[in-house]
Amino acid sequence: MIKVTFVCLGNICRSPMAELIFKDMLEKEGLADLFEADSCGTSSCEAGNPVYAPAKAALERHGISGTHIARKITDDDFARSDYILAADSENMSYLTRRAAESGYLGKLHRICDFTSRPRDVADPWYTRDFEKTYADVTDGCRGFLEYLEQRGELR
Ligand code: 4NP
Repeated sequence: MIKVTFVCLGNICRSPMAELIFKDMLEKEGLADLFEADSCGTSSCEAGNPVYAPAKAALERHGISGTHIARKITDDDFARSDYILAADSENMSYLTRRAAESGYLGKLHRICDFTSRPRDVADPWYTRDFEKTYADVTDGCRGFLEYLEQRGELR
């Protein structure tokens, strides 16, 4: 079982979108049994809140449903995750500081680091462009699966 934890700041837009997009991709590719996917925030500012309505609407336009309740990342998430995938470089800085053991640093990547154009996921909190976020996350998740395939982790 490969445990993947997606991370952003509030855990109401980018990382729950990534969790639900990734789970949908896994279902469609027959890979769901190989993975456990979750998401969380670097902040507790939105803890307890559901997926932000415009983010949920963007997912639904693409036929993706599902729910998530926001929460802040815990020490257990660092220990139990195989891959901790951050939406942007600011999240990465937080995760790098917070990774208590150096062994955890190797778990940290950005969602779009496995693509041909490593970059931050567009932050819809500021752009209001949830389709751009959807496109970035989808590209990132595809790149991540290709990376795992090349490493032989999907067998
Ligand atoms: P997220 O979006 O990190 O993608 O869930 C945000 C949610 C809340 C805030 C910023 C970004 N905020 O400043 O409260």
